[in-house]
Amino acid sequence: MPVKGQNRTFLLDAKRLPRHVAVIMDGNGRWARKRGLPRMEGHREGMNSVRSIIRKCGELGISYLTLYAFSTENWKRPGREVRFLMQLLIQYLKKELTELDRQGVRIAMLGSRERVPTEVLGSIDQALAQTKNNRGLKLNLAFNYGGRREVLDAVEVFLKKRPRPVLSESSFASCLYTAGLPDPDLLIRTSGEMRISNFLLWQLAYAEIVVSPVLWPDFRERELLRCLREFQKRERRFGGVKSVHA
Ligand code: IPE
Ligand code: IPE
Ligand code: MG
Repeated sequence: MPVKGQNRTFLLDAKRLPRHVAVIMDGNGRWARKRGLPRMEGHREGMNSVRSIIRKCGELGISYLTLYAFSTENWKRPGREVRFLMQLLIQYLKKELTELDRQGVRIAMLGSRERVPTEVLGSIDQALAQTKNNRGLKLNLAFNYGGRREVLDAVEVFLKKRPRPVLSESSFASCLYTAGLPDPDLLIRTSGEMRISNFLLWQLAYAEIVVSPVLWPDFRERELLRCLREFQKRERRFGGVKSVHA
């Protein structure tokens, strides 16, 4: 399937697209610093990348997109930046919800509600309610998300279940924030950093990892398509052997 990038045609195999793409959106601060701007401007510009990546994933027919927007460790940042990021989510949902709804996007939140201001939770809840019957791209916002925290929360959920299920990978996975979602096939991290930063520790077990050197505010359709092509070059084995030698 030829898919047009901004100024180049990429050949993507429509039958081998990842079902679930997860993205660590990183590099906003560096993007701003390079331009002599405050970090906040990088976060602001990053929202334009969020818009374009959501739209493109929907157009391509990708089923699930999970965006890492705020980690449980990001509370360590200066209060001013934390407050800005909280407000940015509110503004983003206010501005984009109608369009996301029109595109058929169904929004979900992955993360802990602890410490998140009520106003932010309110706008997330409204977005969830408004889009809950949509049939298009399933967009998971990982907000106040930490992989270790998720595992601990899941243990609590598991222990409260009556009758207590038999412990297995699937009974445990059904207690995670991602219950019912397939594991990501592709993890993209922008800005060149080669680490997971506490993202989806359980779910990334067999994800293909593509690290893009592009800073998140510059990460648009063209670079997404490049990452998808890179994914299609990979041979996934899941611990088995290459299929031709099987
Ligand atoms: C990613 O950009 C956005 C969040 C983590 C919220 P950063 O703010 O981490 O940008 P860098 O890594 O400092 O460039
Ligand atoms: C990961 O980026 C978290 C998000 C993208 C929300 P960070 O910038 O917080 O990660 P580290 O600190 O570089 O590992
Ligand atoms: Mg960073």
